[in-house]
Amino acid sequence: MVGNHLFVWFLCTFSLIVNINSNEYHNVQSRTWDEAIAMAKSFVAQLTLEEKCNMTAGVKGACVGNVLPISRLNFTGLCFQDAPSGVGDSVQRSTAFPPGIQIAASWDRDLFFKRAVAIGKEFYGKGVHFALGPMMNIDRNARHGRNWEGFGADPYLSGENAFYYVQGVQDQGVVATAKHYICNEQETHRSFGTPSNKIQPDTTSYAAYSANLDDKTIHEMYLWPFASSVLAGVGSVMCSYNQVNNTPACQNSKTLSELLKKELEFAGNVMSDWGATKTGVESVLGGLDIDMPGSDGLMGAALVRAVETGTIPEARINDMITRVLAPYYLLRQDQGYPTLDLDRDAMGDNHKINHQLSMAGIILLKNTNNVLPFNVTTDNSFFVYGEAAGQSKHGFGEGGWLQLGGAIYQGGGSGYVEPTYAVDPLTSLLLKSRESHLQLQYITDQFDYNVINASLNAHSFNNAKCLVFISSFSSEGFDRLDLHAADNGDQLVEMVASRCTNTIVIVNSVSQLNLESWIDHPNIVGVIWSGLPGSEYGPAIVDVLFGDYNPGGKLVFTLAKHESDYGTDISPTHNSNYVESVFLDYRHFDKYNIIPRYYFGYGLSYTTFSFSQLDISKAGDDKHTASSQYRQRRTRSYTNVGISRLDEPVYEVTFTITNIGKRQGSEVPQLYLGFPTEAEEPPKILRGFERVYLNKGESKQISLVLTQKDISYWNVVNQKWTVARGTYTVWISTSANNADMKLQSSFNV
Ligand SMILES: *[C@@H]1O[C@H](CO)[C@@H](O)[C@H](O)[C@H]1NC(C)=O
Ligand SMILES: *[C@@H]1O[C@H](CO)[C@@H](O)[C@H](O)[C@H]1NC(C)=O
Ligand SMILES: *[C@@H]1O[C@H](CO)[C@@H](O)[C@H](O)[C@H]1NC(C)=O
Ligand SMILES: *[C@@H]1O[C@H](CO)[C@@H](O)[C@H](O)[C@H]1NC(C)=O
Repeated sequence: MVGNHLFVWFLCTFSLIVNINSNEYHNVQSRTWDEAIAMAKSFVAQLTLEEKCNMTAGVKGACVGNVLPISRLNFTGLCFQDAPSGVGDSVQRSTAFPPGIQIAASWDRDLFFKRAVAIGKEFYGKGVHFALGPMMNIDRNARHGRNWEGFGADPYLSGENAFYYVQGVQDQGVVATAKHYICNEQETHRSFGTPSNKIQPDTTSYAAYSANLDDKTIHEMYLWPFASSVLAGVGSVMCSYNQVNNTPACQNSKTLSELLKKELEFAGNVMSDWGATKTGVESVLGGLDIDMPGSDGLMGAALVRAVETGTIPEARINDMITRVLAPYYLLRQDQGYPTLDLDRDAMGDNHKINHQLSMAGIILLKNTNNVLPFNVTTDNSFFVYGEAAGQSKHGFGEGGWLQLGGAIYQGGGSGYVEPTYAVDPLTSLLLKSRESHLQLQYITDQFDYNVINASLNAHSFNNAKCLVFISSFSSEGFDRLDLHAADNGDQLVEMVASRCTNTIVIVNSVSQLNLESWIDHPNIVGVIWSGLPGSEYGPAIVDVLFGDYNPGGKLVFTLAKHESDYGTDISPTHNSNYVESVFLDYRHFDKYNIIPRYYFGYGLSYTTFSFSQLDISKAGDDKHTASSQYRQRRTRSYTNVGISRLDEPVYEVTFTITNIGKRQGSEVPQLYLGFPTEAEEPPKILRGFERVYLNKGESKQISLVLTQKDISYWNVVNQKWTVARGTYTVWISTSANNADMKLQSSFNV
């Protein structure tokens, strides 16, 4: 009953959106899940058993994954292509967008969405049906080789990123795929069959590691962003290589059938990660719908006999194909979808949004005496150091699997997009020199200590600013060996800082990095975390350095002083025990009172802000515009209606923020929530944020919405999201550092 009621309400809201906000991004008149499922079922009814079974495995074709065409029914098949930060797998004429870790660092939902729209348009333009993203595994292990594809260490922030990625892409008519389901938080021992760590190959055992975790932990930490994706209406979910509680993720009936399909009411399909299927019948019965890429012979035609002998009910095969095709009907891919041409140019002017995205994720960590931004009148002499300032000698590389020694635009592996272009910092600095008559010298060979040393003794050096570019790379398939900058980057920084009193370090890193050997050096007056900025790196960093853009990105993980402070690490064995439970990253640092180098959520600006007038009120009343705007913004015809009741706003938290500094800029107020004891939660949990852009002197009233789920904990006894009784504390802060809390209030339930 509740579901029906919501359904009617939601249809009304949807037509409202289309009218009010004839949104330029809303390309596709998508259907509802019920309509799509009905159409998929009538298609399935026309298939023979053999056709149906054959469709449960991918076939050879132009794309990285291909669904069997059925020509007698005019069904031309489906094309799947890698996706988290653009159309991947070495296709030509594709924009390399800043990866997940960078867009997350923008803390800007509008940009989460705009990036996804731009990505979706390129998939649509090339005629690709399914985008194999977003990637939302949690940054549980700082050394995980794939952290750069995901959205950092917090489930709520990851969930918001996943949500807007799904909507941005699906609004363009392209099916999004939430991955890697679930607990793929390390590469070491990630798969069966292949030793995954080439540095220390394990030749004795070939089982994928098992992520072992309890019910509360999986719900509140690792399932959370997948639940946000399902709520958004994601069409597909990719199961991962690893095992979960000793059952392979792609045949795990607990995670696939119970959590995803039953509890979250997910009506789309589960596809295997490439080669992650290890059994046929067990996978089908466990909840896998399509085996990718499908060459293993485990599913597909092999299932015909299993149906004939009664091992697999034919109804399950029907269900699988219905799930594979429902998203295709959901987004109207059956009507006028572009023909497939992977190399077709659909980039448009995406370089513009790319530049904006790149800047938005750059984080200012240290700015002693406001050395930044530079003023070209007074700051006109620069020395540039480090291989990461310039292009790699090897170009952009093939597939991006290896660190090539140059500026890093993306990480490696299937998430890598072969860029059509990428502009390095040095090139952009030279163009800036041309424009502003700057004196610029550079050394990008960071192993030539004699030349570096000689430059440090040069006469012209005295008044110069020294920019040291360091980097850290990682890739799918391997975990990082340590958290230090590549190619003795720390030594380079120390050498320059030992002589140059105005040293600014630019950190181009895939995820966490240890900055301890030099961060407190008095000559290091500025540190910018450029992150992993995509192909507009050069123009973006120059705009930040010279103040054309005021940085406002915030860390999406804690930067610890000691690697052991994180409390979690890659497991060298075949068991990865998530014993920290919900105490990850800032929640762990809070619990044990560990002082990190830089807190989760931290980042400076060239301006300053003040906060005032915190007010908490109950939502649910039409007068409260923040709640109705929240619903409008998030509702689509393809929204998952079943779990949307948990997304109902219950409180509105309102406050005022003012730019009291000297220039235009942005701040990210972060809402941390303290739960009553009953919930057994960490001292504080992120449950809201907004990036607020303000002119000098300007004030804005901000309203953040707390939903039913935001104030609930996973109750392992009654198996429901439950609101705890007692007092909830609300803090508005500019980082997870308690010293950065600006406003505090509470409400009672
Ligand atoms: C199903 O797949 C099998 C094995 O590849 C093939 O021999 C057969 O022709 C296929 N049948 C149909 C209807 O696609
Ligand atoms: C397939 O397309 C052809 C040509 O457009 C049409 O004549 C035929 O009816 C279609 N068949 C089905 C099953 O839709
Ligand atoms: C740059 O410095 C000059 C000289 O001190 C000053 O006149 C000018 O206002 C500064 N420009 C900016 C944008 O601060
Ligand atoms: C750099 O020069 C300093 C003094 O000029 C010297 O002590 C140091 O050993 C040199 N370092 C390298 C790596 O050449």
